Amino acid sequence: MGKITIAIDGFSSTGKSTIAKRLAASLGYIYVDTGAMYRAVTLFALNEGLIDPEGKVDAKTLTDKLASLELEFVPNEDSSKSDMYLNGKNVEKEIRSMHVSRNVSKVSAIKEVREMLVKIQQEMGKHKGIVMDGRDIGTVVFPKAELKLFMTASPEKRAARRYKELLEKGEEVTYAEVLKNVEERDRIDSTRSVSPLKKAKDAIEFDNSDMGLEEQFERVYDFAQRVIEKVEV
Ligand code: DC
Repeated sequence: MGKITIAIDGFSSTGKSTIAKRLAASLGYIYVDTGAMYRAVTLFALNEGLIDPEGKVDAKTLTDKLASLELEFVPNEDSSKSDMYLNGKNVEKEIRSMHVSRNVSKVSAIKEVREMLVKIQQEMGKHKGIVMDGRDIGTVVFPKAELKLFMTASPEKRAARRYKELLEKGEEVTYAEVLKNVEERDRIDSTRSVSPLKKAKDAIEFDNSDMGLEEQFERVYDFAQRVIEKVEV
């Protein structure tokens, strides 16, 4: 059976990873959450004291230390998902904190960070049969992906989803703070000079502001099946 590459890009908290994960499981494909990789590098920079209290990143020292970084996705049997490991330590929970969210856009705007992570991502997908989500998957990582989706939803809907998730995890945040972070990340992610977030010309735009999970999944699964059928002919 022919396998394809599926690139899912879009703004933060559009539910990309939920859909991507489910799609990968249904197709028997590998799932890669590239945001987790940028978050892990950000956590590393924070732990190394390379981001000052004003949020300024020491890009030069971080770049010098990149070679010593080990990133790995390790399957977690309890959650049937993969956890992000940074230098041998499970950092899955830490990388989702607001502290990391506040700093990740600046770290992901660093050219050397992107070059390193893009290389790893391309290697992961070289045999196809992969669903990868992020910001630049359809434009930079896999510009030849057979199926590209670009997910959008209003900032308010996205902030409400993220706020609910953070409260469930026990984080003390306000909705206003989460909305501000979502808008700020949109702005930095779409205006940075290296690989800004933008829809690939051949991507299908998918606004899920008013769509439940089940409906989204059915539609996306249908897109994938149609492309896979064509590839097999
Ligand atoms: O998908 P996420 O919200 O967990 O991603 C965290 C941050 O990482 C996001 O603000 C932008 C950045 N990112 C990126 O620049 N390129 C990617 N391919 C994935 C994420």
